[in-house]
Amino acid sequence: MGDLDLYGPAFRTDPYAELARLRNEDWYATTAIGTAVLRYREVQTLLSMRDLRTPGADFLALQGITDGPLVDTMRGFLLNADGDAHARVRRIVNAAFTTRRVEAFRPTVAAIADGLVDDLAAREECDFVAAFAEPLAQRVLYRFVGIPEERREDLQRWTADVGLIFGFSVTDHRARIEAALRNLDLFLDGLLAERRAAPRDDLLSALVSTQDLTDVELRAMVVTLMSAGQGTVQHQLGTAMAAFLDHPDQWRLLAERPDLAAGAAEEVVRHSPSALLGVPRVAKVDVELNGLTLPAGSCVLPVTGSANRDGAVFDRPDTLDITRRRTPHLTFGGGIHYCLGAALARVELAEALPRLAQRIRDPRAAAPATWLPPTEAVYGPLTLPIGYAAR
Ligand code: HEM
Repeated sequence: MGDLDLYGPAFRTDPYAELARLRNEDWYATTAIGTAVLRYREVQTLLSMRDLRTPGADFLALQGITDGPLVDTMRGFLLNADGDAHARVRRIVNAAFTTRRVEAFRPTVAAIADGLVDDLAAREECDFVAAFAEPLAQRVLYRFVGIPEERREDLQRWTADVGLIFGFSVTDHRARIEAALRNLDLFLDGLLAERRAAPRDDLLSALVSTQDLTDVELRAMVVTLMSAGQGTVQHQLGTAMAAFLDHPDQWRLLAERPDLAAGAAEEVVRHSPSALLGVPRVAKVDVELNGLTLPAGSCVLPVTGSANRDGAVFDRPDTLDITRRRTPHLTFGGGIHYCLGAALARVELAEALPRLAQRIRDPRAAAPATWLPPTEAVYGPLTLPIGYAAR
């Protein structure tokens, strides 16, 4: 069993090669923050084990922050809740965030994608992230939830500031995070009052109308959706385009066969997940996994981006193949925290990718891309300059 140096050059430069090297040695590796589980079967088992929880406010405690508004905020996010408290909120949100609602919203996603593809097709090069991935993810999320786009600039800034709570320099950013939370609370109180007075056909109105969530829970839910539902999709579109640049035959195939859209969406999420490391888990009691004891309180990483490339489960795992016979990938996690927005993410990718493939022919890298480090909660390109023949 090897050691995965999360902050070392090998993982940073080519995370998949480093994960493959370690995965071939053993099903797990050690890291500075806990055990990294690397193979499909073990990651799948781990994700559904009830004796583990998400870290909640543990990372804040490690930084000396054990109470106050930041801890309350952290505990209020669905992903950080556990047991009955999680089950209650998840049940209420599931009843509003239905497949039916997502399917009814598909034409809106298609229209947003069409508009952005039109803009791309009016030129022959662009930064794919700024011109397509970011605005698509943002517009879809705002419209689906029911957040007014006029306030986008403020809201993006506040959400980004609140996002600093997940990092390891929270003390440095404390004042900024708390100010953003106050601004968001104020804004969201106004929005909740508006939706109560005049409900619309959006997720927020549906959540408000249940009357089962408190205002504190509703505000936390909107902030959760804004942090969980934008960057993930933006970076997933970015990693997808990067993967297609390496597999031009698959891009051409998708252009000819738009009926492969759903398979293409699934395959990019398997091959190049924007959630590479998965969400860490903490053992609530001593836990046995494949003969290894994970002591109570220890941290374990279900490295879904590694599991998805396990050669024991996927044939030619490093190859992007949009016609692949489906073994479910693990990118959306599992167990009680399985991604709430998976259906919406799938619709976004399935509507966007074939439209792009049909109008943006023979894409190629126009300049080197810049990438987030693979240790961030999401992974993907920050800039991805491409050139192409437009149709
Ligand atoms: C390709 C895009 C996406 C990826 C890769 C992704 C990935 C994930 C992952 C890995 C988890 C944790 C699962 C676990 O550890 O078991 C998660 C949870 C979650 N996701 Fe997503 N996600 C995406 C899109 C979305 C979207 C579009 C939304 C909402 C609009 C969303 C909302 C959430 C929420 C609320 C949770 C917490 C669920 C809970 O704790 O019960 N995600 N997602």
